[in-house]
Amino acid sequence: MPSNPTPVLAINALSAQIGRQGVLRDISLEISAGDWLAVVGGSGAGKSTLLRLIMGLRRPARPTSGEIVFDGDRWDCLSPKAPDRRGIALVPQSPAHGFDPLRRLRWQWQQLARRKSPLSAADQNAVLHALGLPALAESFPHHWSRGMQQRLLLAMALIERPRLLILDEPTSALDPLIAAQVLEEVRKTAQSQGIPVLMVTHDLALAAQFATKIAVMAQGALVESGPTERLLSDPQCAYTQDLVAHRHWQTTFHEVRRAAE
Ligand SMILES: Nc1ncnc2c1ncn2[C@@H]1O[C@H](COP(=O)(O)OP(=O)(O)OP(=O)(O)O)[C@@H](O)[C@H]1O
Ligand SMILES: [Mg+2]
Repeated sequence: MPSNPTPVLAINALSAQIGRQGVLRDISLEISAGDWLAVVGGSGAGKSTLLRLIMGLRRPARPTSGEIVFDGDRWDCLSPKAPDRRGIALVPQSPAHGFDPLRRLRWQWQQLARRKSPLSAADQNAVLHALGLPALAESFPHHWSRGMQQRLLLAMALIERPRLLILDEPTSALDPLIAAQVLEEVRKTAQSQGIPVLMVTHDLALAAQFATKIAVMAQGALVESGPTERLLSDPQCAYTQDLVAHRHWQTTFHEVRRAAE
């Protein structure tokens, strides 16, 4: 995979297991400013486990080897010391894990905005608006649909202006049209601020539209990776070939294409 001189995130030979089951096998990846890396792969491939380890969370998967370098700070995954991950904004796979169910959304937004966002209140509200969200008012998380919760988590990640943005299935509750519009907003911010994006997705159409690089995982291993165009037009390994040939992807891809026209 071609890479820029100084990656924001570098994962070197990371392996991990849960109990005796190996869940990550010798994963190496790099992400630099300007990159949007999509990690694709079947359910149980280890994608969320990889993200948790990047965040320094060693449960339930325990690393057995590897190091992760973020912003020049090298973390040996076997060392007992926890890494500093304040520069990373992570949008979790389940919106339910992103909110305190007992606090109003406005309160949660304001807490994050006050502690972590360099933006003015007006610019923060513009992000909500750009993602098609209403005023937060007195709502609790359960008052909002999963799709709205997912968009709010993305808005929270964007107003942080992180040094790395990590998205775990960020549009799973959104229809293809809204998903593409929302990720377009993410792209605008990421590009204008030079924030690299690491996105886990099942949706190859979205990966095709937004990612500059794609990494394919199967059974805990990285089976193939490369620039988006190359990987989709000339997949090398059988698993990627199956993924690319799958009809569902092609249907969704054409829907997104049509919607964008
Ligand atoms: N809490 C847990 N206890 C035991 N095994 C787990 C646990 N969490 C994950 N695993 C196992 O680790 C492996 C990787 O899971 P992971 O959640 O990382 O997959 P994923 O690629 O994110 O899947 P999905 O696309 O469904 O989100 C799977 O074999 C899974 O069964
Ligand atoms: Mg997952």
